[in-house]
Amino acid sequence: MIDQHLAGVSAGIAAMPRSGIREIMDAAWQVPDAILLAVGEPNFPTPAHVVEAAHAAALDGKTGYVSNAGIPELRDALSAKVRGRNRYDVTPENIIVTCGGVEGIFASLAAVLEPGDGILLPDPGWPNFTMMARILRARVLPYPLVAANDFLPTIEDLERVCDSGARVLLLNSPSNPLGAVIDRERMAEIAAFAEAHDLWIVSDECYDATLFDDRFVSAAAVADPERTIAIYTFSKTYAMTGWRVGYVASPARATVQIAKLQEPLISCVNAPAQYAALAALTGPQDIVAEMNRAYHERRDEVCRRLAAAGVPVLLPSGAFYVWVDVRAAGLPSRDFAFTLLRERAVAVAPGTAFGPGGEGFARISLATEPSALYEGIDRLIAALDG
Ligand SMILES: Cc1ncc(COP(=O)(O)O)c(C=O)c1O
Repeated sequence: MIDQHLAGVSAGIAAMPRSGIREIMDAAWQVPDAILLAVGEPNFPTPAHVVEAAHAAALDGKTGYVSNAGIPELRDALSAKVRGRNRYDVTPENIIVTCGGVEGIFASLAAVLEPGDGILLPDPGWPNFTMMARILRARVLPYPLVAANDFLPTIEDLERVCDSGARVLLLNSPSNPLGAVIDRERMAEIAAFAEAHDLWIVSDECYDATLFDDRFVSAAAVADPERTIAIYTFSKTYAMTGWRVGYVASPARATVQIAKLQEPLISCVNAPAQYAALAALTGPQDIVAEMNRAYHERRDEVCRRLAAAGVPVLLPSGAFYVWVDVRAAGLPSRDFAFTLLRERAVAVAPGTAFGPGGEGFARISLATEPSALYEGIDRLIAALDG
C-alpha cells in the first residue's frame, strides 16, 4: 500500500537530473585533503558589520513576518543600487526581495510561464535553470554557447532554436560556468530578437559585481524594460551565500505576480537577513573591491599557467570561474573529473554538469585560496599532459 503510494510521486520531478556538481562534491568529500575547485562560493567571510546588523535587528525584535515584497528600507536602497550601478530606471515598487537569486529566478519564471511554453536556455548553463523549467513544465529550448563565438549567444542560433510557443529567453551574463559577458552591441541584437518574437527576457545578473573589464551591461539598460526581468543576489557580491537574500527588478505587471508568488513559496525573506543585506548595501564597499581584486589576480595567474601549458581557455570577463578545454585528456568530461579526483585529488565540475554543450570542458572556481588553487591547476595540467 505504502509502496504504491510512493510509486505515485511526480514523474516529472523523478526524471529531473541531479546536479552533476553536487555529485563530484559528494565524491570529493570522501577524498582526504582533496583540492576543491568545483563549488562557486566566495572563500571570504561575510563582513563583520553585516553580521552585526542582523544581530542588532534580531535583538531589536525584528524577528516576525514582514511584507512579501521585502522591507521598504531595503527595496528603497535596492532601487537606488539598480539605477546607479545597473543604469536603468526602477522605483522601489519594481523590486522584490527574494530568498537568494535562485528563488528570484524561479518566481520570475513562474510569474510569466504557462505549462508547455518554450524557454530558451543557455547550453552550457547553470543546471538550476533546467531544473526550474522542469518543475514549471516548460519546454526547454537550449541555445548553444561555443568557443568559436566567444561563448556568447548568436542571433542565428537563437532564431534556429526559437519556435512559435517560446515565451522566455533566459540570459546569464556574466555567465556561470563560462565567465562570458554579453557586450552592449550583442545585447542590442538580442533585445531586437526578443522584441520580434515577443519574448520575456529573464536576465540572471547575479554576478554583476564580479567584473574584470568594462564589457558588462544590464539587459534592461538596453532592451525594452517592459519585457525584461533581472535577478541579482547578495550571495556573491558580499560573500553572503548562506544568508539567502537576492532580489528581482521587473516591470509592474511582473512585479505584482512575483510578489503574489512569494506568499505560497516563502511568505517573506528572513527579516534579520534583510537588515544584514541593507547594511551590506549601504555600508563600506571595500570588501567588494577586495574580492574582485583577488578573483582578478587568480584569474590572470590561472589563465597564464593554462596558456603556458598550451591548454585552450577563454579569459573570463566576469564571475569567478574558468572554463577549461580538457579534450586533450581523451576522456568524456565526467570521467575526466572523476579520474582527476581519484588520481590527483582535485575536484573540478565536469562540463556536462552544465548541459550536453559542456562536453570536453571542466569548470574551475576561482573562489579558492590561491596556493590550493594554483596547485590544483598544476595537477590538472599534469593530468592533461599525461
Ligand atoms: C548563475 C547563477 N545564478 C544564480 C545563482 C543564485 O545564487 P543565490 O541563490 O545564492 O543568490 C547562482 C549561484 O551559484 C548562479 O551561479
